[in-house]
Amino acid sequence: MATWSAPGKVFLFGEHAVVYGKPGIAMAIKPRVFVTVRRGRRTTELKSAYLKECFRRLNVKGSIYVRSQLTSSSGLGSSAAVTIATLSAINDEFGLSMTRDEIARTGYEIEKKVQMGLASPTDTYVSTFGGLVLVTQESRRMLPPRNLPLVIGNTGVPHYTAQMVNHVREMVKSHPGIAKPVIDAIEVVAQEALRSFEDLKRLGWLMDVNQALLEALGVGHPALSRLVVAARTAGAFGAKLTGAGGGGCMIAICPPRLKNRVAGAITACDAEAIITTIDTEGARRERVG
Ligand code: PMV
Repeated sequence: MATWSAPGKVFLFGEHAVVYGKPGIAMAIKPRVFVTVRRGRRTTELKSAYLKECFRRLNVKGSIYVRSQLTSSSGLGSSAAVTIATLSAINDEFGLSMTRDEIARTGYEIEKKVQMGLASPTDTYVSTFGGLVLVTQESRRMLPPRNLPLVIGNTGVPHYTAQMVNHVREMVKSHPGIAKPVIDAIEVVAQEALRSFEDLKRLGWLMDVNQALLEALGVGHPALSRLVVAARTAGAFGAKLTGAGGGGCMIAICPPRLKNRVAGAITACDAEAIITTIDTEGARRERVG
């Protein structure tokens, strides 16, 4: 029997613009998915297409138990975390000797297949390696880890990544003179953020600017705006949606002493609040018993 876990992720800066070759900054977060795999004569009936595909690709049979601290379909990378924890547990239980790189790559291929081609390697990479990651279309690079005091607010409004990516694509096609400079400005904000990790106040301001630019691209949602405003009013340095938008989650960067107050303001809007920070570990073996 082998138990492994893998973290979820947030986009700090640059979502949507990464689709157009601009830099994005993503970070692994503390809530995790835990998966136990035990070898067996046959594979138990699996509802999740991700889990089915993990067993099929690695050509093994057995039973699986999944426990998640992440809400699914909220933009926190829960499907990638499930996939990476499952591949890691199968790798361990069956002694397959896959490297972390191979696990990240296989996880991405599985996401791409299950999501019919619409997956970026960001979630599976961040979930495998943890930490702070600079994402471009062709590459992913680890940045020095930073202990950012974050509060996540989950609107509970379902979030459809493909739909939001298509929405931006339509705007780029129909109004290139408006959409392209907005995407260019998101790039400048991400570049500025890369130089501002020592200064939480500045990082918060950059998040506010990034939020306005994402709203200009039409990927905001009234439920997200409500949480963003509530977090700022409660003292956050800044706040923005994270991931595809149109629902899902927002993040706020806070003075450490105000994390609970910001979380309270989010909960008061009938949303789920998660106080978190960076997870530098990525996929890891869990002790059981
Ligand atoms: O909502 P998520 O976590 O699936 O993030 C989507 C981020 C996009 O930039 C909109 C798309 C992508 O694949 O990078």
